[in-house]
Amino acid sequence: MKISSSEIRRIFLDYFAGHEHLVISSSSLIPNEDPTLLIVNSGMAPLKPYFTGEKTPPEQRLCNIQKCVRTNDIESIGDRHHLTFFEMMGNWSIGDYFKDEAITLAWGAIKDVFGFDTHRIYATVYSGDNRLPNIPPDEESIRIWNSLLPPERIIRLGANSNFWGPAGETGPCGPCTEVFIDRGEELGCGGKDCGPDCECGRFLEIWNAGVFMQYNLHESGDFSELPIKSVDAGAGLDRFSVILQEVDSVYETDLLKPIKDVIAGERANNISEKSIRVMTDHIRCATFMIADGIYTGNTSREYVLRRLLRRAFLHADLSGVQPQNLARASSLVVKMFSQYYPQLTQNQRVIEVAIKKEGDTFGKTLKRGLKEFEKVVLHSKEFISGEDAFKLHDTHGLPLDLLKEIAKEQKIKIDEEGYRFFLEEQRKRSRKK
Ligand code: ALA
Repeated sequence: MKISSSEIRRIFLDYFAGHEHLVISSSSLIPNEDPTLLIVNSGMAPLKPYFTGEKTPPEQRLCNIQKCVRTNDIESIGDRHHLTFFEMMGNWSIGDYFKDEAITLAWGAIKDVFGFDTHRIYATVYSGDNRLPNIPPDEESIRIWNSLLPPERIIRLGANSNFWGPAGETGPCGPCTEVFIDRGEELGCGGKDCGPDCECGRFLEIWNAGVFMQYNLHESGDFSELPIKSVDAGAGLDRFSVILQEVDSVYETDLLKPIKDVIAGERANNISEKSIRVMTDHIRCATFMIADGIYTGNTSREYVLRRLLRRAFLHADLSGVQPQNLARASSLVVKMFSQYYPQLTQNQRVIEVAIKKEGDTFGKTLKRGLKEFEKVVLHSKEFISGEDAFKLHDTHGLPLDLLKEIAKEQKIKIDEEGYRFFLEEQRKRSRKK
């Protein structure tokens, strides 16, 4: 049976409320009193003071669905599963249960409540890592998983995969255990080592079933023990929807498909899938960011927003999508999600104006920049020198990341190293001044 995303939300919260978790609301995307974090990137980020013991939580067991933004994987947007905006279904134990109950709770939900096919489930656990010599392998989680899964589906991985946090530069962190689902050989790379840590897309992480928050990372780079042992677990709503709605990618779920359709409009069959996915993801993310009071600018989170919007408008231009379709898509985001996030409707007018303004300004820059780009390409054929790339950025307003996307469409190479040389030269000059 296929389940809608609103059902998934309800079932998740009911399940954890049924296990004595207090349901709390989603925080804003703007971190509260956390200068080490630009934008809320996980369910635990707004709860950091509970884990460090600086604040007392209303209850020791909490759960919610938190809006999150992560742009470190922005280049991966366009594949089946990566998103800049997502909703994380989280459950937390602040000094209450630890590994045993965290894993058992996740397993109960996976097997009995959502009915995932358990034959396709893998778990990853922290194997230890010589970069963190004082943090031992997580033998306890391995023992717990051994009672639930065959040993060949319990995979030991190092710190890159199985040590999570902190959210921001400092704060609570720890080893974690993640749950993956095998989406089938036909989606895989066929490599002999293909497994949950392979990037090919066959194995989808559906749940970080527990970051075992035991350590506090300080500015010095040292870890100290936290005063209490806690659990921070999170599952992506979009990814749950992919599996439970039996669709190929997050863009075919009921969370994104209607937005994608509005953007594509009549051009649906003539746009590259990557472009349509980039526009869909970025417009949803930008709409949520503006609703929480972030405006476009040239630094900090304001620049993150600007970059998302400009990338969306660039892909619209490259694929012949009318800018109005992006505005319509944003209105649809407001309509679809405001029952869960009322600030979307409260700030609808601001969202409309901000998106239009950025689209208009960038439209002009893009027109001018593209003209210059064509001139450069006419002379240099399939290569853009570092100096030209720098000029296109500095004088004509086309930043390198957008330039790269335009060049890629036309199979043109850019001397990025040369570009960085000229950028550094300019920085030196302005420092001297
Ligand atoms: N904070 C953990 C994560 O984002 C649950 O994976």
